[in-house]
Amino acid sequence: MRAYDIILKKRDGYKLTPEEIEFMVAGYTSGSIPDSQMTAWLMSIFFQGMDADETTALTISMVESGDTLDLSSISGIKVDKHSTGGVGDKTTLVLIPLLAAAGIPMVKMAGRSLGYTGGTIDKLESIPGFNTNLSSEQVVKQVNDIGAAITAQTADLVPADKMIYALRDLTAAIESIPLIASSIMSKKIAAGADAFVLDVKVGSGAFMKNIDDAEKLAQTMAAIGNNAGKRTAALVTDMDQPLGFAVGNTLEVMEAIDTLKGDGPADLTQLCIELGSAALILAGKTDSYDNGREQMQNLMHTGKGLKKFRELIIAQNGNPNVIDDPSLLAQAPVIVKAVSSKSGYIKQLDALTIAKAEAALGGSRGRADGSLDPSVGVKLVKKRGEKVENGSLLSYVYASNDESAEQAVNIIQSAYEITAVKPQEIKLVKSVVGL
Ligand code: URA
Repeated sequence: MRAYDIILKKRDGYKLTPEEIEFMVAGYTSGSIPDSQMTAWLMSIFFQGMDADETTALTISMVESGDTLDLSSISGIKVDKHSTGGVGDKTTLVLIPLLAAAGIPMVKMAGRSLGYTGGTIDKLESIPGFNTNLSSEQVVKQVNDIGAAITAQTADLVPADKMIYALRDLTAAIESIPLIASSIMSKKIAAGADAFVLDVKVGSGAFMKNIDDAEKLAQTMAAIGNNAGKRTAALVTDMDQPLGFAVGNTLEVMEAIDTLKGDGPADLTQLCIELGSAALILAGKTDSYDNGREQMQNLMHTGKGLKKFRELIIAQNGNPNVIDDPSLLAQAPVIVKAVSSKSGYIKQLDALTIAKAEAALGGSRGRADGSLDPSVGVKLVKKRGEKVENGSLLSYVYASNDESAEQAVNIIQSAYEITAVKPQEIKLVKSVVGL
């Protein structure tokens, strides 16, 4: 087999065999295929696409490039949850304890974010003492003990993805559905769970900006999971405006705790219930969506999910008293208001712009070795569809100093588009794939 022939075949739009795909991935990972040929091959995939068989083969080849987590000593159907990422997305902090309380072993490998906002690991690290670096053995033991663990990546999972992603990033080949889907699903499969519930975001604060691409990505990821023998469901959900009211690491932890108490924002609560209901079906805990929703609501209202979150914090060395006393979390010294300069209805609250405000406040990492301030962020007061007057409070800004607060206020004001006519409601859950 020669890399040249495989590049040519894809360049001309033909379907590749699993052996050809494996040849390219293994060859690139071992160093026998150079960057130049891999770049050409990735760009051919970018333009010609891949079908479900090819995308599954690509994913499996990537999984085989490194270690996989062995969760066989945990009994039950292990479920993992993944979001393609958004602004104010603290769903993992709510969903993992709720589903663990429902008796599903939850193994969650989460990431830091290098973009405009913090990732799940950054959010958890705003809880004093919380250890996000568990070994594979610690993950297995903790899930056997309390039913859940959330950790940054443990073993050397999917080295092929690290190499291929870096090359795609340098060569303008990121925005390809088969390449994104195989990148995400290879990491999910290597992390060892039996079933996946995926939250594919669509809108200004998401990777996928339009519904057609988001649905295609959801279908592709669900097909890869199911082809690899893992039950997979994907929900396509709105990320045109931030999820919930809180955007910022400690602010989001507080909002997650409120949601576990049953006092969370309506959109975040609804999303956790919908994703949770799908996970209950995948894990065989129910066969009906409605019953799944009922179970999720019960877990919130009886406090069982919150109890599990407390156990999770204790197991990972964090201070569980933050649940009852949020002042134990880092507090921003400066709190100012962003107000409306117009009367009317909020037509748009641009998620990406709010993320940029968080970054301007110092709430995101920017670079892999960058640090972030967990206390800063934005607490939205008004969201899409609401009526405001000139001078109405739109959001609170939590800042470390007056200059960054002022900069954030200006950015936040530009995120709101206010019109005279009440806008139509936008659905939070747009479609469900794979159930
Ligand atoms: N996230 C990933 O992990 N990979 C991609 O290619 C895009 C988003």
